[in-house]
Amino acid sequence: MTRTKPSVWGAQSWAVYKRLLGYTRRYWAIGLLAIVGMAVDAGGLALFTGLLQPMIDKLFMHKDAFLIFWMPIWIIGIFFVRSLGTFVSTYGMAYIGRHVVQAMQQDVFAAYLRLPAAYFGIEPSGQQISRVTYTSEQVASASTDAVKIAITDGCTVIAMFGVMLYFSPYLTLALLVLVPAIALIATVVSRRYRQISRRIQGSMGSVAGTVEESVGAHREIRIFGGQEHEAQRFDQVVRRTRRLNLKIAATNAAASSTVQFSAALALAALVFLGTRPQVLQHMSPGVFFAVLTAMGAMLPSLKRLANVQANIQRGLSAAEDLFEVVDLPPEVDAGKQELARAHGDLRFEGVRLVYPRHGVEALRGVDLHCAPGTVTALVGRSGSGKTSLVSLLPRFVTPNAGRIVLDGQDYKNYTLPSLRRQIAWVGQDVMLFDDTVANNIAYGELAGATELEIIEAAEAANALDFIQALPQGIHTQVGESGNTLSGGQRQRIAIARAILKNAPILILDEATSALDTESERLIQQALQRLMHARTTLVIAHRLSTIEGADQIAVMDRGHIIERGTHAELLALDGQYASLYRLQFNDRPAALGAA
Ligand SMILES: Nc1ncnc2c1ncn2[C@@H]1O[C@H](COP(=O)(O)OP(=O)(O)O)[C@@H](O)[C@H]1O
Ligand SMILES: [Mg+2]
Repeated sequence: MTRTKPSVWGAQSWAVYKRLLGYTRRYWAIGLLAIVGMAVDAGGLALFTGLLQPMIDKLFMHKDAFLIFWMPIWIIGIFFVRSLGTFVSTYGMAYIGRHVVQAMQQDVFAAYLRLPAAYFGIEPSGQQISRVTYTSEQVASASTDAVKIAITDGCTVIAMFGVMLYFSPYLTLALLVLVPAIALIATVVSRRYRQISRRIQGSMGSVAGTVEESVGAHREIRIFGGQEHEAQRFDQVVRRTRRLNLKIAATNAAASSTVQFSAALALAALVFLGTRPQVLQHMSPGVFFAVLTAMGAMLPSLKRLANVQANIQRGLSAAEDLFEVVDLPPEVDAGKQELARAHGDLRFEGVRLVYPRHGVEALRGVDLHCAPGTVTALVGRSGSGKTSLVSLLPRFVTPNAGRIVLDGQDYKNYTLPSLRRQIAWVGQDVMLFDDTVANNIAYGELAGATELEIIEAAEAANALDFIQALPQGIHTQVGESGNTLSGGQRQRIAIARAILKNAPILILDEATSALDTESERLIQQALQRLMHARTTLVIAHRLSTIEGADQIAVMDRGHIIERGTHAELLALDGQYASLYRLQFNDRPAALGAA
């Protein structure tokens, strides 16, 4: 989603955080176990550091026999328990993290299935894809890292602080040197993270988007020599991403080195405090080294804690991006009435349509009546609003004014699923799924169809010949978007799908425009069978294919300017007649060229 103004972080990030936590609620037991593991991890280290004092004072100075025997065993014991803690916490967090990713991916995908068709025109598809693949991963990795750091390193710092206090509250004073540095990082650095991390999300989207576009248009790029242009565009996108990521890295590095440097100051202060003449007299070397080591062990934890903001911000802004999509309102369906099977009496009354995108008024008052079982052809220049008119029927878009009346009722009264069940659609580009031919024909709600029904539909669609020639017949796997089939073959599968659906309303939007004469003849036959006894709206460029239509409506700039049968419109001698003459005169030339 494009965001124009930065959100008010405080309150909002807390809400996002709580919601994110909601995803983990089911795994509270594992979370608890992981937290115990982290505490054991930190505690083990503190215990070991505490052992340094007796090790130095009793083991080396006094050669204590008891300790000489037990110390190595204790060390092994401590680190054994500690590694158990590390395993439990690491695996536990990963377990929760992966489950959160899965849940988020499912939620976003569910949103994609539920959102209105218009949504998919608003946002680049690369961004939509990277939301599921990249952003959801970010949420998990960033937030599990953040939790792990906050707890393990938080515990370590506290435990080490305890060790220091236990041995010498006086030497612990040296830590005061660290306070200003940490305060500085907490304010300055975290503010910077907020600024950068949201911008990163968007730029990852455009990396994926640019790649997707270039992969999809690989033929165009090669033919039109667009390599240079695409390379430049991609270059800009990845440069931006790199710059943003480096800004994060610089902030991280600055935070780390600030902590490190002030830690050196604290260590120096510790040495200074420990070597005052009056202190030096009654401080044992063991105490001094234990405190020194405790402070040293605090250091890496403090460094990570200074950067934990980065993880939190990264995770939260990624989560926010996902939640925004999950929260988008679904398709509006105010319809209450279930439509069993429509007669197919279709009436457009003063229908207007304005696309919000550019404020284009695509339909400017269309009146049209399609009687049940008749064929209405829509012709007209491209951009005259033909596709927009038929897109209204499955309510991909809704009219801004006017009504569409189906079987005497405003079609908004029908529930969306029951309305869509009345409509079969064969469009210009046929999308096939990465599945068998049979499953592509019997798709979605048609999935219960028997093999015989599928074969009959394929036969009626003139598709059986080529399907039988495929290696495994109707059980042949067709590639993603049907890459292994030709345009005409895909179109016939789409027709078979429409035949199988056996819906009372049929929409053909330039279903034959991209075909050669042979497949067009086959498809034309198939379409004739399909149109039989259905209310059909057919959009065609080649007027020869619609001469037999019950009525022809000529559209121009969002209006219907002429309407009648082929003969009536020829007699009218208007735009249809001149279009027809144009194509008729062209035909010998076109045939000659073919
Ligand atoms: N999704 C859309 N968003 C904005 N404008 C659109 C959209 N689809 C079509 N249009 C505009 O609406 C007008 C009619 O388009 P369309 O119905 O596709 O025409 P036709 O199918 O007759 O070629 C055109 O001016 C087109 O630019
Ligand atoms: Mg169109």
